[in-house]
Amino acid sequence: MNNMQNIIEIGIIGLGAMGYNFGLNLISKGYIIHGYDKSFNKSKVKNLKIYPSISKLYDAINSSPKVIMLSLPNNAVDKTISKLIKIMNKNDILVDLGNSFYMDSVERSKVLKKFNLNFLGIGVSGGPTGARNGPSIMVGGSKKAWFQINHLLKSVAAKENNQTSCVYFGGPANGHFIKMVHNGIEYAFMQTLAEVTTILSKVYCINYVKQKEIFKSFLNTNISCYLLKVTSEIISAKSKNKFFIDKIDFTIGQNGTGNWTVKSALDLSVSVPTIYSALSTRNLSKDFNIYSNNIEINNSDKNVKINQSILIDLIMFVFSSALFQGISMINAYNENFSDKIKFRDVFKAWANGSILQGKFLNIFFKKLNNKKTIDKSYLKEFISSQLKSDLLKTRSLINISNNLSIPLPVITSSFNYYDTLFTSHKIGEIIQLQRSYFGQHKLLDKKNNIFIPKWVKK
Ligand code: 6PG
Repeated sequence: MNNMQNIIEIGIIGLGAMGYNFGLNLISKGYIIHGYDKSFNKSKVKNLKIYPSISKLYDAINSSPKVIMLSLPNNAVDKTISKLIKIMNKNDILVDLGNSFYMDSVERSKVLKKFNLNFLGIGVSGGPTGARNGPSIMVGGSKKAWFQINHLLKSVAAKENNQTSCVYFGGPANGHFIKMVHNGIEYAFMQTLAEVTTILSKVYCINYVKQKEIFKSFLNTNISCYLLKVTSEIISAKSKNKFFIDKIDFTIGQNGTGNWTVKSALDLSVSVPTIYSALSTRNLSKDFNIYSNNIEINNSDKNVKINQSILIDLIMFVFSSALFQGISMINAYNENFSDKIKFRDVFKAWANGSILQGKFLNIFFKKLNNKKTIDKSYLKEFISSQLKSDLLKTRSLINISNNLSIPLPVITSSFNYYDTLFTSHKIGEIIQLQRSYFGQHKLLDKKNNIFIPKWVKK
């Protein structure tokens, strides 16, 4: 208990946009930051002290136990931990604030335990502005360390009505797992909105300035969220009379978290086609447009009148599918690992400060919060409770887009996901029979009894 008050000096290794702003946030709450970053040699900020080496930083921290936070690119974490192991003392606390792969956090925690060092793997969301003013903080790892420093993490986290978005999820993997799932959903939300801008441009012939107004008006509906606001800000931004959207290169960057989400979903046997499509489009993006001479708005059917409520339904449908797929990963994680992550806690962490925050998230979680598990019926019920029109109208907009060769990978994969689940078809039966025919794989009938077709030799 006493330790809690003693920790007022903290080391931060890595003062890039996230680490630096997280440090400033801590300083604004009264903490003293000892920082190290290769490309930083002095500080103009009071209570941010810079050191020429990690060991000098360590020596300067005048609190016990000493707390060191890493805000580093994933590939620099292990090297830095190896250095720190040599200089840190028993019971010190090492915090990884970066976007790390959750299974790496398990390994790191084990290694550090051998040296009696306590580890916290923390996902931080909200970008540099969030880090400075109140991020979402997803914590996993040593309970003792959490107990010792939760007050300082909570002091910098986003808050609303006294509810903090700093949440402890248990084991060392859990914080980074929840952040990874968050990022996969983030990819899908971002691309949903990018695909909708393409529909607005190509189906409805709407210019960027009008698109901004449309997105802004959507902020008053149930699909409202931070990423919608971001899209409304960027869509018509310009300088020297030229829209940024027409100036910048189209290759989409990524830091690897979406890749981890998809790989982890496969490992957990969870289907995440909406998230996968967003990731896959990023991978494809370096080749966008290269075979096309003309990407101007030239093939629209001028007779198609915009119906904003269909667009809202469309976004609602795809956001719901993406979020549902991400939550299904958490569900499967709970089934596979002993730490049970509560949906209520996930919502608490994401509700404020995160990139996913917004009204849509609040509505989606409203009925989910008290559930222990989620099944597919949740998606169907949620969608039918939220959509203003029937899905047929939304589908016809997709058909029009399709006829105009408008690419909608995230939108169409969401529809395929939904239809595969909720319509009757014989895809499963056909594939099982194919497997049986050429591979003699076991078949079960509808009553779960062994079924032996005529081509299988008894
Ligand atoms: C957040 C974001 C953040 C992420 C960047 C870039 O929650 O604040 O998820 O952690 O690193 O947005 O991600 P990509 O480079 O993969 O787009």
